[in-house]
Amino acid sequence: MKGLNMSDKLEISVVNGRLEEISANVLVVNLFEGVKIPAGATGAIDNALDGLISKFVIGKEGFDGKFGKMYVLPTYGKIAADKVLVVGLGKNKDFSPNRIRELSAKVIKKCKKMGCAKKVISVLHGAGIGGYDPEVSARMIAEGTLIGAYSFDKYKTEKSPKSVDEFVIVDMVEDNCKKAKAGIKKGKIIASAMNFARDLSNEQPAYATPTKLAEIAQGLKDIEVLVYEKEEIEEMGMGAFLGVAKGSSEPPKFIHMKYKYKGSQKPAQRKIAIIGKGICFDSGGLDIKPPSSMLNMKDDMSGAAAVLGIMSVLKDLKPNCEVHGIIAACENMPGCSAYKPGDVLTAKNGKTIEVDNTDAEGRLTLADALCYACDLGVDEVIDIATLTGACVVALGSAASGIMGNHQPTIDKLIKCANAGGEKMWQLPMFEEYKESLQSDIADMKNTGSRMGGAQIAGIFLENFVKKVHWAHIDVAGTAFLDKPQNEFPKGATGAGVRTIINYLMA
Ligand code: BES
Ligand code: MN
Ligand code: ZN
Repeated sequence: MKGLNMSDKLEISVVNGRLEEISANVLVVNLFEGVKIPAGATGAIDNALDGLISKFVIGKEGFDGKFGKMYVLPTYGKIAADKVLVVGLGKNKDFSPNRIRELSAKVIKKCKKMGCAKKVISVLHGAGIGGYDPEVSARMIAEGTLIGAYSFDKYKTEKSPKSVDEFVIVDMVEDNCKKAKAGIKKGKIIASAMNFARDLSNEQPAYATPTKLAEIAQGLKDIEVLVYEKEEIEEMGMGAFLGVAKGSSEPPKFIHMKYKYKGSQKPAQRKIAIIGKGICFDSGGLDIKPPSSMLNMKDDMSGAAAVLGIMSVLKDLKPNCEVHGIIAACENMPGCSAYKPGDVLTAKNGKTIEVDNTDAEGRLTLADALCYACDLGVDEVIDIATLTGACVVALGSAASGIMGNHQPTIDKLIKCANAGGEKMWQLPMFEEYKESLQSDIADMKNTGSRMGGAQIAGIFLENFVKKVHWAHIDVAGTAFLDKPQNEFPKGATGAGVRTIINYLMA
């Protein structure tokens, strides 16, 4: 997947020096809301520009430093950079590492738009007056810059020429630079996992097939990979997954990736499975979707894309644990051998499911994947899935839904989400939801009432979880955006990647 997007070309580095002396097309400085006379690095630039920022930008033009606001001014040769980009940090009390990331994404977008910015230099936002650890600040800058620079233009015959080649963080203190370097390294890894996932979910469904996902998994460095073919999936007794796969001419693939920490002698490591929903296209099956609902259903493998993105960077992150990445990949199509409403499927754990609606396919594939994961003897299982429209109705694109059987695991994931700039909101798994999944002829149906649909899907999944701590993350509303939000443009976001990486590293 390397080499698809523009952010790959962008080099981020750190230089120990004075901002005013380093040549660049654009120099980025910042201002907290309400500040009239800038201090620190911005103050030094203001002085070098004979008060142009304080007297003109703030004074005459009324630049107020509100979060994300920007102002560009030429430097007329007074410093080495051609132009200064002043960015608003917002109120000091609202400032956070997450804001540095979001701001950095906005800055790089602005620089790309300016067209003239091949080389950008920047202050280390927040590290001065903000009081942040330079490592944290630099990590957020690197993450935000690379997330913000991302664009998916593989299929555009005319690529946008307006790229930024070089982004350099400049600081006068040598120790800050050392720390910043470590931060940049981490930020790059995380952004690369996210952009890897975004590339896959943005891909056309004709490209990102189950076979392709398996090939990509097999190409991952330092990861052991097992790919089960249809006959082997049958032998394993995955009747629920196979039921979904039947309607498509694309063969299903059951993908099992394994990462193991090599650093320590002690065998007692955390064992975690992460399962990604891998429906490479969701037409709805025989209960076919109307056109408007089918439009973005290439994104129905975003959970799988997130898992692949995460697995792709474990060799660099080296978390001290054993991580199993699991994807039951197939398409949900209404071909002539498609599964039908009324069919009874038997999952790997022997439980029977009456198909009530062929469009509730994700939970069927996840059912078998959950059984498989639990049989591995792991301690924790996290599944991530574009599972329900009901979750989109409940939370929109602002937050992913989270449920599970172990409150501390859920709490920890929510904490990791917040720290990574993602939002997760817990939905309840009340007893009352169980009733609607009752079947007259099988152990359960695959759908129940439309009301509380996200939670009912969670309750359904719980039938396939055995003796492990389990959390289910519904990213139906967050994995793919119809309009820009925070640091993201339209399209795939890599939802869940940052949260789960933080979780593995915690
Ligand atoms: N892939 C969809 C869920 C979805 C909806 C993802 C919107 C992203 C955006 C899932 O397979 C689905 O079709 N769910 C149905 C379930 C219903 C039939 C119980 C839904 O939510 O409508
Ligand atoms: Mn569906
Ligand atoms: Zn689906």
